[in-house]
Amino acid sequence: MAKKEKNTPENIQFQKIISHAKEYGFVFPSSEVYDGLQAVYDYGQNGVQLKNNLKQIWWKAMTQLHENVVGIDAAIFMHPTVWKASGHVDSFNDPMIDNKDSKKRYRADVLVENRAAEYAKNGENDRSEALLQKLGKLQEEENLDGIRDLIIEENIVCAVSETANWTEVRQFNLMFATEIGSVSDDASKVYLRPETAQGIFVNFLNVQQTGRMKVPFGIAQIGKAFRNEIVARQFIFRMREFEQMEMQYFVRPGEEKESYDYWKATRIKFLEALGIPADKLRFHDHIKLAHYANAAADIEFEFPFGWKELEGIHSRTDFDLTKHQEFSKKKMQYFDEEVEDKDKKRYIPYVVETSIGADRLFLAILCQAYTEDTGVDAKGQEKTRLYLRLHPVLAPTKVAVFPLVKKDGLPEKAKEVFELLRYDFETVYEDRGAIGKNYTRQDLVGTPFCITVDHQTLEDNTVTLRHRDSTEQERLNISDLRVKIGEAVSLKNIFKALR
Ligand code: GAP
Repeated sequence: MAKKEKNTPENIQFQKIISHAKEYGFVFPSSEVYDGLQAVYDYGQNGVQLKNNLKQIWWKAMTQLHENVVGIDAAIFMHPTVWKASGHVDSFNDPMIDNKDSKKRYRADVLVENRAAEYAKNGENDRSEALLQKLGKLQEEENLDGIRDLIIEENIVCAVSETANWTEVRQFNLMFATEIGSVSDDASKVYLRPETAQGIFVNFLNVQQTGRMKVPFGIAQIGKAFRNEIVARQFIFRMREFEQMEMQYFVRPGEEKESYDYWKATRIKFLEALGIPADKLRFHDHIKLAHYANAAADIEFEFPFGWKELEGIHSRTDFDLTKHQEFSKKKMQYFDEEVEDKDKKRYIPYVVETSIGADRLFLAILCQAYTEDTGVDAKGQEKTRLYLRLHPVLAPTKVAVFPLVKKDGLPEKAKEVFELLRYDFETVYEDRGAIGKNYTRQDLVGTPFCITVDHQTLEDNTVTLRHRDSTEQERLNISDLRVKIGEAVSLKNIFKALR
C-alpha cells in the first residue's frame, strides 16, 4: 500500500516542494556529504531568513502585542530531576514495532493511523473512525499487545519487505541523554530537552517576581528541542532536532477556560495573518485528555500528505508547577492581592500553553507558498510559472535591484538605488544575466519586488517596480520606493489582522 502511495499527486507535489527547498537554498539535509543524518536538517541562506522572520513575528505577536507576556531564553540542559518531575523520564514514550524481515522500525500507532487515513481517503469514513476509536481505547489502556493485534488484523505490512512479520510492540523513550562533566555516573546524566516548556515552568517565579507580573501573565520562549523520533519521515515535519515556539499563560484556577478559548482564537488568527487560508486550517479537539489536562486542541494544517498537527493549545491545570513544587521542595505559589478571600490568596496558577514548531510552521508556509500558475504566453504557448507566494513580510529577500544592461552608467545608478534600500530592507543587487531570468530567480525564492534601472532612469529618476504575484510593473520615482516597499513589508500588516 505504501508503494502505491508514492505516485499520488499529493506525494509528487510534496517531492517537488522538497526539491525546491534544496535547490533554492532553503533546507539541506544535515551533513549531506556523508549522506545525511536522518531527520536532521540545515537551513540554507534563504531558509534561515524565512525561519528568522517567522520566529520574529511570533515573538513580537506574543510579547509586543500582549502587555502581559514577556520572553525568556532558558538553557537546553536542565537539572535531570526536571524531567522526572515533568513525567518525561517515565512516560515520554512512543510505541514502536520492528519488521523482522526489513529490520525497519515503525511507530505502531502511526501504522494504524495511516490505515485509518487510507480508509477515509477512499470515502470509508465510518470504518476509519471505528479503527481510530479502537486504537484510542488501546492507547488509553496502554495495551501494547492489543495494538500489535490490530496491526495484524488490519493486515498492515512493512513498506519495504511487504511482510507482516512483526516484533512485539515496545515502549521507546524519546529523550536523548548525555553526560555532563568528566565523571561518568548516574548523577551526571542530563537530557537534551524534549520541549522548551519546562524551562518556563521552573523560571515561573523568577520572572513573576523580578518582572512584578500579575496573574494572568504569559512567558514566551523560542528554542531548540530534541526527540529521538522513531518515524522520521516527511522532511522537516518530524525532526530529531527542531525548534519550538511556546508560551505558558498563568491564570487563576477556574479562569483557564476563558484563556484557553482566547488563545485558540488568537492562534488561528495569527496563522491566517501569515497567509494560510482558513480552509487549510482546522481544530482537532482532543476527546481523550492527558491526565493533567482539562482541555486540549491541535490546530491542523492540510499538508500535501494530509491534515496534520501544526500547533497544540493545552489547558494543563496546575500539573507542572505542582510537580516541580513536589520534586524541588520549593514553593511554586503565587500571592494574589486581588483575591478577597484570604484563604484563596495563595495558589499555584493554572496554565494554558500554546506550542508550535518553528520548522513545522516553516513547512506549512512553504507548502502554501509553492505556486504553479499555468497560462498562455505572448506566443500562444502554454507555460507554467513557478513562484513562492510568500507574504511580503516573510520573504527572505524583499527587493532585488537590476540594471537593464551592464553599461551606459546603469550599474552605477542601480547601485545607488541598492544603497538607498539596503539599510531598511533585505535587498540584493544583481548585474549578471538577462532581466527575465533574474525575475524568475527572484520569483523562485519569493522576492515580492524587483526594481529595474533603465535608460529612462538616467533622465527622470524613475524605475520599474515589478510585483511578484501579478508580474505587473509600474513606473515609480526612486524617492517613492522606500515608502511603497516599506508599506508592503511592514509587520503592521500582520499585527493589524490580530487586533
Ligand atoms: N510543550 C508541549 C509540547 O511540546 P507537542 O505537541 O509535543 O507539545 C508541540 O509539541 C509542537 O512542537 C507540535 O505541534 C509541533 O509543531 C512541534 N513538534 C513536536 N515534535 C516535533 C518534531 N519531532 N519535529 C518538528 N516539530 C515538532
